[in-house]
Amino acid sequence: MKILVTGGSGYIGSHTSVELINAGYEVIIVDNFFNSQPEVIDRIEQITHKRPLCYEGNVCDRQVLEKIFQEHNIDAAIDFAAYKAVGESVSKPLMYYQNNLNALMTLCEVMQEHDCKNLVFSSSATVYGDPESVPISEESSLSVTNPYGATKLYGEAILQYLHIADPQWSIAILRYFNPIGAHSSGLIGENPNDIPNNLMPYICKVASGELPYLNVFGDDYPTHDGTGVRDYIHVVDLAIGHIAALKTICDTHNIDVFNLGTGTGYSVLDMVHAYETINQVKVPYRITKRRPGDIAECYADTSKAERVLHWRAERTLEEMCKDAYRFINHQV
Ligand code: WQD
Repeated sequence: MKILVTGGSGYIGSHTSVELINAGYEVIIVDNFFNSQPEVIDRIEQITHKRPLCYEGNVCDRQVLEKIFQEHNIDAAIDFAAYKAVGESVSKPLMYYQNNLNALMTLCEVMQEHDCKNLVFSSSATVYGDPESVPISEESSLSVTNPYGATKLYGEAILQYLHIADPQWSIAILRYFNPIGAHSSGLIGENPNDIPNNLMPYICKVASGELPYLNVFGDDYPTHDGTGVRDYIHVVDLAIGHIAALKTICDTHNIDVFNLGTGTGYSVLDMVHAYETINQVKVPYRITKRRPGDIAECYADTSKAERVLHWRAERTLEEMCKDAYRFINHQV
């Protein structure tokens, strides 16, 4: 099967492309390298010994997609192409709405014109807002807490109504919790060009000396140690979850939503201590005030993905910390 991976040179897109190739799929990537580097394609080839075809371009550009669908008989698409920085989305909401929603709608229009109606959509646990209780199931209430999260919630709604209008579509909506870590080769991983927004890349840069210390955003949450608790999932487990979703949903003419997490929550200080112990490094930190918009606890009820996708996260926190460390030090 030929799979179009939009945003396929990004953090999750590149790991998913590797697992797709390993599983025997033919991968075609389209990416504008806004949040990634062209060298990632070389790294994917180094890991899999197969070079995915890559079209440089913006998924919002219909002509870019038309060319791909005219040149290839695409069986399914996995859509990662989106801006994803929560903080930036608060200061630039229109840029996020324009890019993230336009990319999804343009992709669906071109897919429909070419009778390709198998789609895996990258959503996020951020659509749960501040949950009433944890663990969070797919039936938990949804809410918008920032423009980035809004684009994911609206994107899901667009797809639900698309399926009502045309039940020929087969769609899996995947809500990611907190992806971290890197491929064990150390060749691909998360390496934001600027100061990281997310916890793990920040911890990595403090431990490598690139940043002086970690700001722990609040230690007065109602959690076991007062710091925020999240469901950290190894990015390779997340990637493999996409293969499971693809296999389950293709040509079923269903639409369904799945949490991709581990079902276990770790606090900020749990992560700091784990990274220090496992990698024998120091991560100096300071407790600062809460980050606006943050919630206390968020971790997944993973039973639906286990039951329907026959998938569960297998990699441990130790592997997540080791693989993240190896990647950052490969880069340093
Ligand atoms: C995790 C914890 C922070 C940085 C976001 C998006 C979500 C998804 C993952 C895209 C929190 C604390 C963090 C720091 C800290 N992205 N923290 N100091 O906010 O759970 O989720 O990224 O899909 O959609 O919302 O992840 O890594 O930013 O924060 O103390 O320098 O670490 O307060 O408790 P988050 P995060």
